Amino acid sequence: MDDKQINQTAESFEKKTNRISWSGKLAFVLASAGSAIGLGNLWRFPYLAAKYGGSCFLIVYIILGFTFGISLLLLETALGRKTGMSVIEAFQHYGKKYKIIGILGSIVPFIITPYYCVIGGWVVKYMFSYVTDGSAALADGGGYFTSFITSPDFSFVFMGIFMLVTVLIVAFAKNGAIEKANFIMLPALFVMAIAITIYIAMQPGAADGIAYYLIPDFSRLSPELFISALGQIFFSFSLAMGIMVTYGSYLNKKDSLTTSCAQVTGCNILIAILGGFIVVPSAFVAMGGAEAVMAKGGPSLMFVTLPTVFDSMGAVAPVIGFVFFLLVLFAALTSSISLVETLVSILEDTLKWERKRSMIVVIIYLFVVGTFVNSGYNFLSFIAPLGEGSSLLDLFDFVSNTVLMPIVALLTCIFVGYIIKPKELIDEIKISSPFKLEKAWVVMIKFVCPVLVVITLVAYVAAQFGFFSM
Ligand code: PFF
Repeated sequence: MDDKQINQTAESFEKKTNRISWSGKLAFVLASAGSAIGLGNLWRFPYLAAKYGGSCFLIVYIILGFTFGISLLLLETALGRKTGMSVIEAFQHYGKKYKIIGILGSIVPFIITPYYCVIGGWVVKYMFSYVTDGSAALADGGGYFTSFITSPDFSFVFMGIFMLVTVLIVAFAKNGAIEKANFIMLPALFVMAIAITIYIAMQPGAADGIAYYLIPDFSRLSPELFISALGQIFFSFSLAMGIMVTYGSYLNKKDSLTTSCAQVTGCNILIAILGGFIVVPSAFVAMGGAEAVMAKGGPSLMFVTLPTVFDSMGAVAPVIGFVFFLLVLFAALTSSISLVETLVSILEDTLKWERKRSMIVVIIYLFVVGTFVNSGYNFLSFIAPLGEGSSLLDLFDFVSNTVLMPIVALLTCIFVGYIIKPKELIDEIKISSPFKLEKAWVVMIKFVCPVLVVITLVAYVAAQFGFFSM
């Protein structure tokens, strides 16, 4: 297509849709990178990297990111831009019977968003606590964290604050609020991540952690490592939950999908690497070795171990702690914005509701379900849906991340690979740029991705029910 044709297609597309559209490619890249960069990069990736031998996990993750992750990212954004619709309508565009894939895909953000806001509330609380309570209070080996999440009042307030900020930004999306928020928060996030990385690297004892994180020990490669890296790609790239279809649908026909997706992938991986540089050496400083780090992975690494490390830094401790949690908050907010925007656009497009009405329904839904999930740590803590010690949040996470997301990704690959055929999206991709890796992408979508997705699904479900340990 020449420039004139591209402009005409773009204009007629915009007139037809009357939806939000990005002001340009940069806005799309920042928004998609903002969606991808989240708690997954700063909390989940580092503890998986710590658990699975540092650099080995890092290498496998980078390879999978630039093959598996980017292929699915490109598929979803191209599908969104091709149809100009959010996820349910995008699939229905090709026939009523395919609507079910979109419905399953849209259930995912409805499950994730409330619990994401609960964790977002923890981050807000920690950030404030560095100002109000000082760093020593947070570094008490877990008591502070437990008493906060089990507190029947405060945990709800902080969840509410996180939700409020998110919905306010989404409410003004038509005035460009999402773009503006990303324009401010993402560069700030990069600067803070680099600054803290440098500071942590200078701490005594950090060198061992950096060595563990950077020098590969290939004896650590294992099926568990590979499967965890695959699961992390789903979580981190915001795949199989309608977000990238929605964000792609706001993208102009002139803006290159291939370079945008490569840039989003690069930014997302870079922040995960920096997250590892902050957390892994810190954990070494606090615990003194890989074994202890591996044994104490999980959420506690961020909310219990790191405050202990920060506290050992003397007078700067509250500043480092505050900046770190501000960084995590920005990452979480850019993701929660994308989740809420996706929910709103699903209601708008599917039920043909006005944006305002969709917003109100989403806010009520989030508040009610978020309160329910949060209650799992206090009022309803007697419910252990996945066995002893598990919470409602764990159940929500299991259903969305472990079961639904791989199923949606598999159906999406089959749909594009064998039903509408890859050419349909290749033509869309080529409207805005050449597509040199076209053949490799087809192989990924038709053969490699479905196999990897099935492996992830089977392994995670088996692990949950104790057949397999990860
Ligand atoms: N990709 C974001 C993150 O890594 O935090 C947003 C997100 C995606 C959150 C998927 C949760 C999730 F299950």
